[in-house]
Amino acid sequence: AVVVGRRVKSRRKWKKVGNVLKELEEGCDTSVGRLRQVVDAMAVEMHAGLASEGGSKLKMLLTYVDNLPNGCCFRNADRFVSSLSFQRTEKGPYYALHLGGTNFRVTRVHLSGQPSPVLEHEVERQPVPPHLMTSTSEDLFDFIASSLKEFIAKEGDGSNISQDRRELGFTFSFPMKQMSVSSGILIKWTKGFSIVDMVGRDVVACLQEAFVRKGLDVHVAALVNDTVGTLAVGHYHDPDTVAAIVIGTGTNACYLERIDAIIKCQGLLTTSGRMVVNMEWGNFWSSHLPRTPYDIELDAESPNPNDQGFEKMISGMYLGDVVRRVILRMSLESDMLFGPISTKLSTPFVLRTPLMAAMHEDDSPDLIEVARILNDTFEIPDVPLKARKIVVKVCDVVTRRAARLAAAGIVGILKKIGRDGSGGITGGRNRSDVKMKRTVVAIEGGLYSSYTLFREYLHEALNEILGEDIAKHVTLNVTEDGSGIGAALLAASYS
Ligand code: GLC
Repeated sequence: AVVVGRRVKSRRKWKKVGNVLKELEEGCDTSVGRLRQVVDAMAVEMHAGLASEGGSKLKMLLTYVDNLPNGCCFRNADRFVSSLSFQRTEKGPYYALHLGGTNFRVTRVHLSGQPSPVLEHEVERQPVPPHLMTSTSEDLFDFIASSLKEFIAKEGDGSNISQDRRELGFTFSFPMKQMSVSSGILIKWTKGFSIVDMVGRDVVACLQEAFVRKGLDVHVAALVNDTVGTLAVGHYHDPDTVAAIVIGTGTNACYLERIDAIIKCQGLLTTSGRMVVNMEWGNFWSSHLPRTPYDIELDAESPNPNDQGFEKMISGMYLGDVVRRVILRMSLESDMLFGPISTKLSTPFVLRTPLMAAMHEDDSPDLIEVARILNDTFEIPDVPLKARKIVVKVCDVVTRRAARLAAAGIVGILKKIGRDGSGGITGGRNRSDVKMKRTVVAIEGGLYSSYTLFREYLHEALNEILGEDIAKHVTLNVTEDGSGIGAALLAASYS
């Protein structure tokens, strides 16, 4: 009787865990109908954000980038091409610094050869020391300037530091109100950065001051968001590129907009009649987003509550923590699963997204990798196979939702610029009549480039929402280090 009693109790506990999983799946619903609602909401919010300052949670920020580098069609008379001297066969080097996520990067770009220039680059990456993310602006910018100084010093014997003035593009991946292509004030921090004295200050002025402190003669010719750098390099390689997405520590998008559609800035003139708009889509919100109690808790306990709602469902900084919260809830329901609750399991952000992806994609027999990661991360030994399978399923639900929402965001942009095949382009009556222009979206960030299942779910959702006939005209092009290279290209263009 005792054994039977234990079995019944055990079955009940597993049932409770099963219920938690079922609720999660329902809460994360991304049926194609719901995704289409998200697409429409995104397009509506884009209009609202362009209509007036503060008109939407989507800031739709001006970047003053009105021409994009064009590498294949180099004879096009756009500003980028005319800015390059064809007397010389080589241009540059141009430099870029990229601050905005887990890693800090310094890049050098050379352009050589004509009429089709060859682009070569070198990149050095290093983790941003965590204490600098919350220290003072002076500490942060001194670190950035020192890194550049060391990078330049390695170019020769060290005596070259005082050579000619160098031109640089600064990729600063946070929301900025730009006054020009080379100046902008920080609106707010995201992704765990919080240096109070920086908010409201001109980012380029801070950087130039740090260069002076370090004895560097470097001119910041372009200040860009990472999405804008990605768009620039994407367009350089493929002129059909109209938008760029970053899905890394945070998530965001930018795209090329007609100047007359930016109603909040009437009278703005550009030579091309267009301007890149940084959407800051991480802060997008709509009642159609599938939000669960885990998202609500995560938001409330985050450094920026009520902010960056879309980002918190999609990007690398948060996905692992959503999964941790679900596992914690399951453990509270049943100690059968993971034994007594460990302190680590209650600690925010201990499960980093790359580890979550490794569990999700574990193809070892009996999910040995899942067991190892659960032990290393949460200090829970010997998790039973049944529980490991549940963990993989949780990762799957959370990642699938993220990837599908990102896909809906992309289609929202395509809809706004008339590239979603919903008519109007050539006046076709049916979706199948519509002659779609080839449309390229540049994409960067570890979630898309290194997480196969995320990428597959995103593509699957694009096909579902757009239909295969339309989706085949849309290409996603991965750029690696594009946000930095693009900033250097823009520095070449605008210096
Ligand atoms: C955050 C930042 C945004 C950036 C994105 C990706 O959302 O606010 O500016 O582009 O992360 O790095």
